[in-house]
Amino acid sequence: MKNQNKVVEYNFEASEFNWDIAPGKTIKAWGFNKQLPGPVLRANVGDTLVVRLTNNLTQPTLMHWHGLRIPAFMDGTAEVQRPIEPGEVFEYRFVLPDAGTFWYHSHVNETVQMERGLYGAIIVEDPTDPIMDDEKIFMIDDMKLDEANEFTTPAWSLPRLVERHDGREGKTLLINGKETPQIHIYAGQTERWRFVNSSSARYFVLYLNGKEFKIIGTDGGLLEHPRTVTQVLITPGERIDIAAGPFEEGETFSMESLRYNRSTFFRPKRQTFASIVVGSPKASVAFVPDTLRKIEPLADQHAPVNRKIKLSVGPSLKNGLNFLVNGDMHVQDKPVKVGELQVWEVSNPSLMDHPFHLHGYFFQVIEENGKVPEYLAWKDTVNLLPRSKVKIAWMPDNRPGTWMYHCHIIEHHAAGMMASFEVVDGTKPVGEETHARTHHHH
Ligand code: C2O
Ligand code: CU
Repeated sequence: MKNQNKVVEYNFEASEFNWDIAPGKTIKAWGFNKQLPGPVLRANVGDTLVVRLTNNLTQPTLMHWHGLRIPAFMDGTAEVQRPIEPGEVFEYRFVLPDAGTFWYHSHVNETVQMERGLYGAIIVEDPTDPIMDDEKIFMIDDMKLDEANEFTTPAWSLPRLVERHDGREGKTLLINGKETPQIHIYAGQTERWRFVNSSSARYFVLYLNGKEFKIIGTDGGLLEHPRTVTQVLITPGERIDIAAGPFEEGETFSMESLRYNRSTFFRPKRQTFASIVVGSPKASVAFVPDTLRKIEPLADQHAPVNRKIKLSVGPSLKNGLNFLVNGDMHVQDKPVKVGELQVWEVSNPSLMDHPFHLHGYFFQVIEENGKVPEYLAWKDTVNLLPRSKVKIAWMPDNRPGTWMYHCHIIEHHAAGMMASFEVVDGTKPVGEETHARTHHHH
């Protein structure tokens, strides 16, 4: 099959608007095109995506393309472009190199801007994707609201410290911007359900009333083989694609998140996010093959480590706690060279979990606490359990510029657990990368 590459264009407006998360329950959301989540961006692999973003918020913003392997100057961080001021327009334009489930979100003042709704999904399709009867996208989020449904920041030091430590979790649980929505599926059919955890800090353990489902993909697209499970952890930033169904006519059950203990001040609970209603039967054409694609290993478990990254938590006189990379906050890490295989040991000596996210490149986990992982996958976010270590391998392909990695618990990122670094073209001196500071109109 041949792909006719297209240019897929969207106009986005970031603004504040009223959004009903449930009947009669209205919040002042911040989002794109007055929707929460923002519009689903859908294209084929190889297409060019153009998003013209107008900032009608009262503060600067930027758009980050989580998981897309695009040029550095399109990454949407303050490292590579000047924030888009209120009233300004910036055009993002890049080719979509990989199929899979990705997402976009604000990368400025994230603890406020992401919490209020500045995020959305990106679906990149490929002609070789498994055939399904239908497809749904589920963006997982939660919000911390007061009785008047307003966003609040803790006023005194103890709750403020709790939010800094745990990350911001709220009692308002959302799927696609709605509280406990009803989800419909025809009996006998199998659908592709794409999950994105867009919350600030919530660990989501997907559970469908004990029913088996098949994991077919994750951050960087399809796995090699489907994995049949009854639950799966999706940490902030991560994606999981499953084949759901077939179910029986008339069944109803909950989409829940099981309890996950990540050593927060608040005790974790099992919670319902949505209800699933199975309708009348319909013929199925879905087919999930045993081999979804081939993934070539980048390195084996014993590949020599060329960088160590330690994620830790330390005391702070001013803030109570700081979140650290190699002992410091907001770190400038050493450059890496295009074409030089990276094998990084990421360790977490702290007593809580951290989802480690690398911008712009996929990695493979080649060792987890001394063991080879059970299966290969392309990832951009990996969870680090308390007192644990992983080894990841990744290849800096020819996209020089400034990139970053950070904990995807947004409050930890803001409290220091992040680093930026240069990917340098080995043939050029450092510092010659293009920075997108001006508008380009085509
Ligand atoms: Cu979703 Cu800096 O990342
Ligand atoms: Cu963290």
